[in-house]
Amino acid sequence: MLQHPDHSALVQQLTAIGQGHLFAFYDQLAPTEKTELDRQIASMDWPLLAELIKTVVLNPESVKLPENIEPAPYFQHVPQDAATQEKYRQAQAIGENLLKKNQVAAFVVAGGQGSRLGWDGPKGTFPATAKKNKPLFQCFAEYIRAMEQRFNCTIPFYLMTSTANHRASVDFWMQHNYFGLPELQVMFFSQDMLPAVSLDGKVLLETPGTLALSPNGHGGSLLALHKSGALADMRKRGVTQISYFQVDNPIVRCVDPLFLGLHEMEHSDMSSKILPKVSSTEKLGNICLVNGKMTVIEYSDLPEVLAEQRTADGQLRFRAGSIALHAIRCDFVERLNARGFALPYHRAEKKVPCVDMATGKTIKPEKPNAIKMETFVFDALPLASSSIVYETDRIDEFAPIKNAQGVDSIASSRQITTQRNSQWLQAAGIKVPRKPDGTPDCTIEIAASFALYPEDVKLKAAKIPAINAGDALYLH
Ligand code: UTP
Repeated sequence: MLQHPDHSALVQQLTAIGQGHLFAFYDQLAPTEKTELDRQIASMDWPLLAELIKTVVLNPESVKLPENIEPAPYFQHVPQDAATQEKYRQAQAIGENLLKKNQVAAFVVAGGQGSRLGWDGPKGTFPATAKKNKPLFQCFAEYIRAMEQRFNCTIPFYLMTSTANHRASVDFWMQHNYFGLPELQVMFFSQDMLPAVSLDGKVLLETPGTLALSPNGHGGSLLALHKSGALADMRKRGVTQISYFQVDNPIVRCVDPLFLGLHEMEHSDMSSKILPKVSSTEKLGNICLVNGKMTVIEYSDLPEVLAEQRTADGQLRFRAGSIALHAIRCDFVERLNARGFALPYHRAEKKVPCVDMATGKTIKPEKPNAIKMETFVFDALPLASSSIVYETDRIDEFAPIKNAQGVDSIASSRQITTQRNSQWLQAAGIKVPRKPDGTPDCTIEIAASFALYPEDVKLKAAKIPAINAGDALYLH
């Protein structure tokens, strides 16, 4: 049985660091609630929190930009010469071989709160596809299953949740029979949580007996992989490479042999996929070289003079936009954890429901009232001994769902997916009805079991019915 922490010692410890208010309603709590609050408080790393409150909340330094920022070199999507073409052919074979030897794990970070989308439940349960409304989790499961069948291999799938959405995520997978994946191949673990802090440095309560906690950012995955035993489990299964992706993109290539092959071939610790930015203001982090180290500089931090620079052929000089897809060597994550590592904490002002200390009632603020502190996975890039970057195709792989409406919404994601599928069909000689503005006048959903690549559509073209304007087609 868990021991009840020493309450008076906790009161003393928190009072000493100016957080004694967390016990303001203690006397009104039921005995079990008292135990719960004491346990929650005892589980926090208070020396770290006190330091973060000082440095990130109360005295945030303006971002200091390094002096030597250069654009990162990257492997272009389409090889430009015969040597590169040959290199890609070899990389593809190496990547396929990693899969065939069961050395690749798929890993989705799904611990975020998805507050911009406003979906009541884990984001992975959000209905994403254009005709069948398949949830995001299902898209990944089907992609993984199709890759396993193609390469006759096993791809263990790890999902990082947070304590806020863990139960609901696991239940969802159970209710759907793991979407066809063997249950023992799908592993869940939670990341660490941190309390939100008021603008004047006070840790917030969500209710009189609980802290207002939020996940510690996707950077928390590198620690959670180790702490949860997921990394050790990967090792037991013979996995050497982690294919890392985010939960919000229904057309992500959860594992990509070419990308994994280039990463392996170049002995990279942590590699990234990018898209060339469509404009200097596109909200993608910039992958740069800083003193020779691969580094992401957030879109809001790159000075305009650099962001606007162009090369002689008119392209943006800093155009490598990160889309948060990484290939990561297991031994890199092991090395980080073995020697101890700390990613920087970023501050975000957010609206966090919290207890009004005067009344004890939980209030929903109208404007940002709190600071959340998060680490970002890409801050591990400079810690890698070697790191490569590969350009993917925008339409083929990038249809994020971040917002309820507008840019990066469910509507734009479905539009991009139908556009991608139309291209695949047209390349296979199938006519796709179009509106006067050239966009598809139909909805097309393609299951991973039907096609993973445009070439697969060509092989099955004879099975595809004629498409009329307004049709909604599902190929599976
Ligand atoms: P986002 O930056 O989109 O954050 O996460 P979010 O919390 O999901 O959404 P908003 O900002 O509240 O709208 C990018 C990816 O990182 C994961 C998310 O689940 C998503 O896959 N993530 C984010 C975590 O796993 N943990 C975190 O603490 C934060």
